[in-house]
This record gives sequence, structure tokens and C-alpha cells, in this order.
Amino acid sequence: MKFKPRHIKLKNNKTVEIREAVIDDAQGLIDAAKKYLRDSDYLLSYEEEFTNSLEEEVSWIGSMANDNSLLLVAVYEGEILSTFSLHSRQLKKIKHTAEIAIAILKEWQGLGLGFALFNSAITWCKENTSLEILYLDVFAENTNAYHLYKKIGFTEDGRRKNYYKTKSDKYIDNIMMSLNINQINIK
Ligand SMILES: CC(C)(COP(=O)(O)OP(=O)(O)OC[C@H]1O[C@@H](n2cnc3c(N)ncnc32)[C@H](O)[C@@H]1OP(=O)(O)O)[C@@H](O)C(=O)NCCC(=O)NCCS
Repeated sequence: MKFKPRHIKLKNNKTVEIREAVIDDAQGLIDAAKKYLRDSDYLLSYEEEFTNSLEEEVSWIGSMANDNSLLLVAVYEGEILSTFSLHSRQLKKIKHTAEIAIAILKEWQGLGLGFALFNSAITWCKENTSLEILYLDVFAENTNAYHLYKKIGFTEDGRRKNYYKTKSDKYIDNIMMSLNINQINIK
């Protein structure tokens, strides 16, 4: 295990466990992913586009096994509430960087879980990895996510105009953000 599990008390007074995902979480991760996609307009796939089989999900969990990648889940009473991935490619020129993706079940948003997940992951990066740069993409309309990323210390690298196009032909800009973890102090 790369990551020591943590217990975090959220704003609803419930204590959730943040831990590394294991192969046995594959079905729980699929079930959670379908709910995130059903409830959020700001994730890349539509619900019907997420077709991972159990085998594919197991393979995805396995792909995070390298030293500079991490797949975290937040769990309450056996249910996966959130998925947080920090994925690093193993190419020499970019292996000091990792891409982040995060999603939280609707009823568990706004309780401090997103912040706790970033906090846990950044602390892990600083203590255990050679990572320096974390980066992510966000829909320009996703103000909750944007505020969370700014609060952590991410800054904008640029915007791609009209990068996303919804089913109803609405265009939304993509904001690219990154964070140099050597330049922030997080508790
Ligand atoms: C975006 C997301 C990850 C944020 O996580 P969260 O647990 O809801 O956020 P937190 O409760 O930790 O909030 C942390 C900070 O984010 C900002 N924030 C969160 N919700 C907010 C809201 N409704 N309005 C304004 N700011 C908000 C605030 O700055 C907040 O700090 P504060 O608690 O000191 O006010 C989560 O809401 C989510 O999964 N949404 C759906 C999927 C998604 O959009 N994923 C991101 C794709 S880029």
C-alpha cells in the first residue's frame, strides 16, 4: 500500500475514510462513476458513454500501480462516495507531472471532501514521489470546482475556447490549471 488511510470528519459530522482503491473496489467504482456522470454536466463523458466492464475497471485500477500515480476513494459505510485519480505517465520528460481527476457523489459535495482529497494527495506527493507539477482541466462554468482548485493554489495556464460541446450544441470553454507542489504549503 502506497497511501496510509485517513479518517476525515466532514461538515455533516460524518467521518469518512480516504484510502487507496484496491481491485475489489472495481464494481463500487463503476457504480459510483455512473452516478457522478448522471448527476454532473461537468465531467467529460455522458453516462451512456461510460461502458467499462469489470475487467476494464480492474485494468484501470492496475494502471495506477506505478510510483507516481495514486487512485483514492472516500468511503462511508462501505459505499464509495468519491474517486480521485492522480495519473502520471512514465516518459522521462513528463514524469514529474501528473493529471488529476475528481468526482464526488452529489449528496456528499460541499462538505469539505474535495479539499480533504486534494490535501491528502498533495501531502502524499510531497512525501513519497518525485512529482512537481499537478494539472487538470475544468469546464469554465464549473464554479464549485474552479473555486476549490484556486483555494488549493492551482493557477490558470490558459483557456481553450469552445473546447466542450454539449448534446444541445452549447459550447463551453476549457480552463487548464496547474500547481507546482514545491511552491505551496498545505496542512
Ligand atoms: C467539484 C468538486 C470536486 C468539489 O468538491 P467538494 O467536496 O464539493 O468541495 P469542498 O466542499 O471541499 O469545497 C472546497 C472549496 O471549494 C469551493 N466550493 C465548493 N463548493 C462550492 C460552492 N457550492 N460554491 C462556491 N464554492 C464552492 C469553496 O472554495 C470551498 O471552500 P470553503 O469550504 O472554504 O468555502 C465536487 O463538487 C464534485 O465532484 N462535483 C461534480 C464533479 C466535478 O465537477 N468534478 C470536477 C471536474 S473538473
